[in-house]
Amino acid sequence: MTDKYLVFGNPIAHSMSPSLHAYFAKITQQDLVYDRSLVEEGRFKECADEFFSHGGLGCNITVPCKLDAYSYANTLTDYAKAAGAVNTLKKLDDGTILGDNTDGRGLVRDLLRLKCPLQDSKVLIIGAGGACQGILKPILETNPKSITIVNRTLSKAEHLASLYQDKVTAASFENLEGSFDVIINATSLSLKNELPNLSDELLGSAKFVYDLMYRKYGDTVFTKKAKALGVTQSFDGFGMLIGQAILSFELWRGVEVDFDKAIEHFMHA
Ligand code: ATR
Repeated sequence: MTDKYLVFGNPIAHSMSPSLHAYFAKITQQDLVYDRSLVEEGRFKECADEFFSHGGLGCNITVPCKLDAYSYANTLTDYAKAAGAVNTLKKLDDGTILGDNTDGRGLVRDLLRLKCPLQDSKVLIIGAGGACQGILKPILETNPKSITIVNRTLSKAEHLASLYQDKVTAASFENLEGSFDVIINATSLSLKNELPNLSDELLGSAKFVYDLMYRKYGDTVFTKKAKALGVTQSFDGFGMLIGQAILSFELWRGVEVDFDKAIEHFMHA
């Protein structure tokens, strides 16, 4: 029987995961199928039980099922624990289910590919939702000088900052001071073509800007704005999407996928 994988979510019709994983399987000569599955509200456990009891070996989980997947796993990696959410499940040899979160490490892989100056730099993360929580631990592991989380609702930024040592601090847009080397937009504002409330001076003085959101064709409103302000190193989250998928694939299959080759392929697909 061919090894089975899939992605759970709702909506799911436009997920790129099946084509990403089909490509990874092709270039690593792995024999597997990767499907997509729509999960009706409140039915994640049922769907996952069904999948794993019928030979499923691993799955990705996207919105809105990442917390359900967190509860579903029998054991969690430190990254899943830190993120408070799971985007990858793997059936282990003993039949138990491991939960991981590859989003943050996928981002860091992409940042390193893009030669983002993370080490000893001052990093600003905009937004304090699940996306921010998912990237904090992997970014901290690259040894930045500091991370500031700025959020509309200050208490949420303060809560996330309190989970880490004093390298991570919280700020509101009104009391945000100083300048930052790296600015990461971890809000979903770009999906609505809206910008966070940062001054042009602050955004324009960054050396490197990254938006976790991406658009298939061209810049997000945020990366475009940064470029207009003179930031030449301004990137969207398409590489992160590929990075997190590769890390899931590697966890499941134990083989390495060439990140640059995958990026090259999908940037022009
Ligand atoms: P989650 O990822 O946990 O589901 P979300 O509700 O999608 O979170 O919000 C993601 C982030 O975008 C949050 O930091 C949110 O700010 P609040 O915590 O203040 O809600 C931020 N965000 C969403 N809309 C925003 C807006 N119009 N202006 C500023 N920040 C916004």
